[in-house]
Amino acid sequence: MKIGQYILSLDQGTTSSRAVLFDALGGIAGMGQREFTQIYPQPGYVEHDAVEILQTQLYAMRQAVHEAEITAEDIAAISITNQRETTVAWDSETGIPICNAIVWQCRRTAPECERLTAEGLEEYIHKTTGLIIDPYFSGTKMKWILDNVPKAKVLAKEHRLRFGTIDTWLIYSLTEGESYVTDVTNASRTMLFDIQKLDWDEKMLNVFGIPRDALPKVVDSSGIVGMCSETILGRKIPIAGIAGDQHAALFGQCCFDKGMAKNTYGTGCFVLMNTGDKPVFSDRGLITTIGWCVNGETTYALEGSAFNAGSAIKWLRDELKLIANPQEADLLAETVEDAGGAVFVPAFTGLGAPYWDMYARGALLGVTRGTSKAHICRAVLESIAYESYDLVKAMEAGSGTEISELRVDGGASRSRFLMQYQADLLHCAVRQPKCLETTALGSAMLAGLAVGVWESLDELRTVWKLKNAYDPQTAAGSEAKALKRWHKAVERSMGWADG
Ligand code: G3P
Repeated sequence: MKIGQYILSLDQGTTSSRAVLFDALGGIAGMGQREFTQIYPQPGYVEHDAVEILQTQLYAMRQAVHEAEITAEDIAAISITNQRETTVAWDSETGIPICNAIVWQCRRTAPECERLTAEGLEEYIHKTTGLIIDPYFSGTKMKWILDNVPKAKVLAKEHRLRFGTIDTWLIYSLTEGESYVTDVTNASRTMLFDIQKLDWDEKMLNVFGIPRDALPKVVDSSGIVGMCSETILGRKIPIAGIAGDQHAALFGQCCFDKGMAKNTYGTGCFVLMNTGDKPVFSDRGLITTIGWCVNGETTYALEGSAFNAGSAIKWLRDELKLIANPQEADLLAETVEDAGGAVFVPAFTGLGAPYWDMYARGALLGVTRGTSKAHICRAVLESIAYESYDLVKAMEAGSGTEISELRVDGGASRSRFLMQYQADLLHCAVRQPKCLETTALGSAMLAGLAVGVWESLDELRTVWKLKNAYDPQTAAGSEAKALKRWHKAVERSMGWADG
């Protein structure tokens, strides 16, 4: 461990760009954050302005350095972690995006997914890329851009088209076009990447008509990939770690051993389990993904993804204006004994694992004249615990491993009500670390390993410190009735936007 050295971790999320400056003990020395615009051009569509993402990220990184009162000389490396799957397309000559980024939540490519299924590609895609056919992943988004943005085809012909997930876009911009790379974890979310050969898959490139030179070079998650321009912080700084946010969180939670699992309660809920050096394929609606690749060694993971979780709390605040902040939802939920029969399904953008219904939409059922604001807040928080329950159960069935401890992080894991309810539902230990910036920490660890701030995984384990332990307080099975009602509500929400 090299004391006195800092890692600047850029955490580019779905609703805000953040930067966290970590010291060599894993402590937070400074932070910066800025929200950016969510663009909803029509129902089911979600877009971001990639330039605004870059600008808010630059703002956040400068703010973190300023807050820590250090200079660029003290920063050993920069790391990147990001919302995954969101797809940017730009011109290599200008570095300017040719359209808005298509966000992971966007459902516009549902018809293309139907085509893939009708062509019988389901099994090939699952076995090669680890994924399930759904608009969630980048491949169909790239094809949509090629088919619908006239400039894309022209640029592709001239070998000037560049596609990238957010990590690639940020690194390209921070290095002023010097580095056009992505790491294996982000590549494994595109539906174009062979997760065993660790290369773009020729057949999938053909399926979507994507030219290889419009895709970045794929690198390990830990290692120097380029230098951040001195115009940004006043000195060239190596960019040394990259991972999709959920993979970074698995690493930051120190789930280094096979069978260890975490759940991040962010915009969505993402349960990932380390499955060791071989991919495990499940028929329970889980994705097989790459956890990380460090020193040339690949660690695989199983993932269960629910698309909306914390976003439902934001919906209570921003659209319904029922609460002023997330803490209020927590306090209100605790004022009532139960949700009064109300059940909420947060399927704003369809349902992910284990249901995979791109046409499902949100539902609030069981409402009576007596349903209060507190009941609705409680139903929303409970829904996050129910969907996580489904993910964990699918993971246990799919991996054959019982999850006895679930490590948790992400904004909504601050809700004590939610965490206790989760422990009761799952009847397992829920453990929350002191550092809730696990995603940012995970990518900082990956960069720190590359530049010698940390030497080994064993050294990193000492960074993880327990903050809150939630153990079941109810008898096993006592939530059976509530779960039955939840599953009934999920069924009702399915297929809603079809036709
Ligand atoms: O796959 C989408 C995921 O990476 C988004 O994460 O933290 O922005 O909700 P988050």
